[in-house]
Amino acid sequence: MRLEQPWSDRSRQPDDRARSLVEALTFEEKIGLVSAPMAVPPPGHRPPPDVIGSAAATAGIPRVGLPALQESDAGLGISNPNQVRPDDASTALPSALLLGSTFDPALADACGVVVGAESVAMGFAVQLAGGANLVREPRCGRNFEYLAEDALLTGVMAGAAIAGIQSQGVVSTVKHFALNAQETGRVVVSSDIGEAALRESDLLAFEIAIERGRPGSVMTAYNRVNGVHASEHEFLLDQVLKRDWGYPGFVMSDWGGTHSTVAAALAGLDRQSGSQLDQEPYFGEPLAQAVRRGDVPEARLDDMVFRLLRAVILAGVLDRSGRPAVNLDAHQQLSRKTAEQGIVLLRNDGTLPLSNPATVLVVGGHADSGVLSGGGSSQVSPVGSLREAGTSIAEFQIPRTYHPSSPVAALSSALPSVEVTYHDGADRDAAARAAERADVVVVVVEQWTAEGHDVADLGLGDDQDALVAAVASANRRTVVVVESGGPVLMPWLPEVGAVLAAWYPGSRGGEAIAAVLTGQVCPSGRLPVTFPQTTAQLPRAVMRDASTATSSPGAPPVGAFSEDYDIEGADVGYRWYERVGLTPQFAFGFGLSYTSFAYAELQIDVAEDGGTGIPAVRAGLVVSNTGARSGIDTPQLYVRLPDAAKAPTSRLAGWARVALDPGETRQVWVDLEPRLLATYDTALPGWRWTAGPYGLLVGTDARTPVLQASFELASATAPP
Ligand code: BGC
Repeated sequence: MRLEQPWSDRSRQPDDRARSLVEALTFEEKIGLVSAPMAVPPPGHRPPPDVIGSAAATAGIPRVGLPALQESDAGLGISNPNQVRPDDASTALPSALLLGSTFDPALADACGVVVGAESVAMGFAVQLAGGANLVREPRCGRNFEYLAEDALLTGVMAGAAIAGIQSQGVVSTVKHFALNAQETGRVVVSSDIGEAALRESDLLAFEIAIERGRPGSVMTAYNRVNGVHASEHEFLLDQVLKRDWGYPGFVMSDWGGTHSTVAAALAGLDRQSGSQLDQEPYFGEPLAQAVRRGDVPEARLDDMVFRLLRAVILAGVLDRSGRPAVNLDAHQQLSRKTAEQGIVLLRNDGTLPLSNPATVLVVGGHADSGVLSGGGSSQVSPVGSLREAGTSIAEFQIPRTYHPSSPVAALSSALPSVEVTYHDGADRDAAARAAERADVVVVVVEQWTAEGHDVADLGLGDDQDALVAAVASANRRTVVVVESGGPVLMPWLPEVGAVLAAWYPGSRGGEAIAAVLTGQVCPSGRLPVTFPQTTAQLPRAVMRDASTATSSPGAPPVGAFSEDYDIEGADVGYRWYERVGLTPQFAFGFGLSYTSFAYAELQIDVAEDGGTGIPAVRAGLVVSNTGARSGIDTPQLYVRLPDAAKAPTSRLAGWARVALDPGETRQVWVDLEPRLLATYDTALPGWRWTAGPYGLLVGTDARTPVLQASFELASATAPP
């Protein structure tokens, strides 16, 4: 029977297969497919037999052989909402910001493969991954799900992760489209910005991620953009995404993020998600009525279903048989490797790597138990995790979760002849006294962040600064390991010997931290976000009081307000500091090593991309390891546009990642992303390359140029 169904015939084109399947469906079946209700049972309850228990699902249609389309969060592994799988063994990958710190798209792809494989093994059809919002607001509670403040780094890394996920036979999203820059009031806020700035920043990150990753789905944001809900934004969904970029996949709303039937359907929303959180099941019976009335053409309903089914077919969901087993051990190793590559060494007076101490005291951070992780829908919660009271979003409990990988245990096994002891740090004076007696002290400090909540400031809180200061004054050989969702302030910085930004390092984070501390791994992470000296340096020094506006979907929406993102416009992160002439604590791209590198022989090659007029620029340089250890370096290429372009800040246009042994030298070539050499001109509309001299800076970070050169481009334009 199934063999006669043209949509099951793998020799046919995905478009043909999807079209024939749409034609075979009844009106009611089509309506059923464009709304995916939540599928998580309440805490303590098991889901029904065929339902995994996850963010959302639509029922299968056995008549045509279409399986249930079950959707799971998210990009850091398979989430376990409300502990629906009590004995879950999913791999918890490090936070996306840690992945961003690797600057390594191959590693992002490999992490995606882990997520995709585990997703398929559990029977999911859609993975709600691909966080590609820019870190515009360092206090945003979800920055740990995003990759960087920079559009190119975000787009390249998100695209690679999405491609990895989908290579395993599951649809991935890219989310949250667009400008979901903060959690405070996320369901009522309007993110306001001019079109050119938006195209050059947040939209550029999505554009690159979509080109490289080809996600089957785009998830809209909770917020409004310039006053219009993202889920019914005709300009964003229909014009930019589907027409300008020719996006062939389907657009889903965020959970509780749909606000209308006709407006959303006509603007380009293809599937409502988590309808229980919406005020109405907009894409259920109300959509059926709107189509019957003719307010939404039936062809539009068919287009919604076609886009969904084509994405499902392209990813291979229809052709799957069985659930392939996964090698969880290999996945844990990859999680560890990622953490080792993404931990950033921010300061080192020679205290690291640890050299034969007799005793090491570890203080605080539950380091005897595990490593901190970020909270919310993306939470991966494998068996053995330590869970403490946290927060909640709608009916979801969000415990503060420590992944089961103890830095203390890992240090003990990495240094078998060293006495490693732990102090919880609760009694500061006692911790300082213990520090006096130790050869080296490792203080683990934490900043817990979670979806739905921003942090009020970038301080560590809970007297952790005083703890570090007390320990450091007792023992100068103090190393601070920061487990955080994003940048934090470090008032004690000059007083400590070394600092590691370990972000949220995942299922094997303890081992990764120990490997960097002991020098088994030479640190190579580079900051994907700027660390300010104070919040006064940020474009919006003070955040809105979260108690004045609704942040939780499903709750009555009160306190609507606007955030003005035209303050920094496209000059997000390091570009803002350059524009206003401020010096941050740590620059974007910064990270130390246990070895040293030198750059030389910068050359530039300017061509034209196949007669289009679009410049094709590549730069070559020679990188040498001038130190005594093998290590990995990330030379970064920043571009300055001609004065006439009126774009006065330097932009990251490419980078290399080079592994070198001591004394080794290698020439590398880097293609510069052409849209980073352009400005967006709404009058064209499209990209404009201004004729004139362009500056190229090769740096170790956004503020430390090592080599400089210039090149000329002729004027050119390209459509959006
Ligand atoms: C989040 C999404 C997530 C969805 C489903 C929402 O609250 O914003 O990122 O995919 O929940 O869990």
